[in-house]
Amino acid sequence: MRILVTGGAGYVGSVSVEALVAAGHDVSVIDDLSTGHAESVAEGVDIVDGPCTDAAAVAKLLEAREIEVVLHCAARSLVGESIQDPGRYFVDNVAGGIGLLEAMRLAGTNRIVFSSSAAVYGIPDRTPITEDAPLRPINPYGETKRSFESALWWYGVAYDLRAVTLRYFNVAGATEHNGEQHDPETHLIPNVLAALEGGRPLVVFGDDYPTPDGTCIRDYIHVADLAEAHLLALEATAPGDARTDPSDDRGMLACNLGNGGGFSVREVLEAAERVSGQAVPHEVGPRRAGDPPVLVASAARAAEVLGWQPAHPTLDEMVGSAWEWRRRHPDGYASA
Ligand code: UFG
Repeated sequence: MRILVTGGAGYVGSVSVEALVAAGHDVSVIDDLSTGHAESVAEGVDIVDGPCTDAAAVAKLLEAREIEVVLHCAARSLVGESIQDPGRYFVDNVAGGIGLLEAMRLAGTNRIVFSSSAAVYGIPDRTPITEDAPLRPINPYGETKRSFESALWWYGVAYDLRAVTLRYFNVAGATEHNGEQHDPETHLIPNVLAALEGGRPLVVFGDDYPTPDGTCIRDYIHVADLAEAHLLALEATAPGDARTDPSDDRGMLACNLGNGGGFSVREVLEAAERVSGQAVPHEVGPRRAGDPPVLVASAARAAEVLGWQPAHPTLDEMVGSAWEWRRRHPDGYASA
């Protein structure tokens, strides 16, 4: 396939590019490098440095490279920031995303896989969460993901767009080449590892939740497994594939990406202690606003429809690979 990856220099994007190149696909990347790192893009892959939201410019790129399918990873993705500055999230994730869809219409590219989020569900009525659960986001980040999914649906109805939306749960881990480096960093595992390296002690955000050890439970998924799911989802948009046939009401296929099991914050700390052989400096602080006690995916649909099975489901593989990556790249990416 000839694939354009938006946000291909980001954490999930760069690992997906690695997997697509390894599978023999012809990959191009567009990334404005506002949060991504050019050196994370696999060797030999062409990077266009710019926004993916300028419809006329992106249409030209799609035509020039004869792109068959788009993997749309580019987005603002910090929940806290989205509450402080929702405008930035609606402009980049929704208006910008529509710019990309318009570019695709102009160029006649009608296949897309979208990086969505468990944040579309908000606080679920029950777990594990299935894809037909109500979408009730509780922050602007999740709302922008839901809005773009709605656009995909209606573009499918009207313009024959074939779309897969992948709702990621908690992405973790690293490959040999690429790992997680955000500034600011808000995610649990990088913060745990930074504490191990002598940074700020980890603050556990609350240990009085209604869970067995009192800390929140999340469904962690290895970034390399996520990349494999992208490959399968891109294949599912092929012309004639019944899974994304726009002429029936399944034009947009939504799949959760998680392990279907959960781990508590304390279990993450224990895994970090096992893989590093060191105690994690930490303290218990107050709850963080907006954190549901338990978020666990039902991963049944991704297994049934995409044929996807996580190959690295253990916390030790996820935390261990992230720890290894940080040890190999003590200064992170040079462009940080
Ligand atoms: N946590 C801490 N200390 C920290 C960081 C996190 O105790 O320093 C806790 C959080 O309270 C939470 C768990 O660790 O219970 C995981 O927190 P993360 O910030 O790593 O991830 P979230 O579950 O908040 O967010 C993830 C994705 C988001 C997505 C959300 C969906 O990263 O993109 O799931 O609800 F929006």
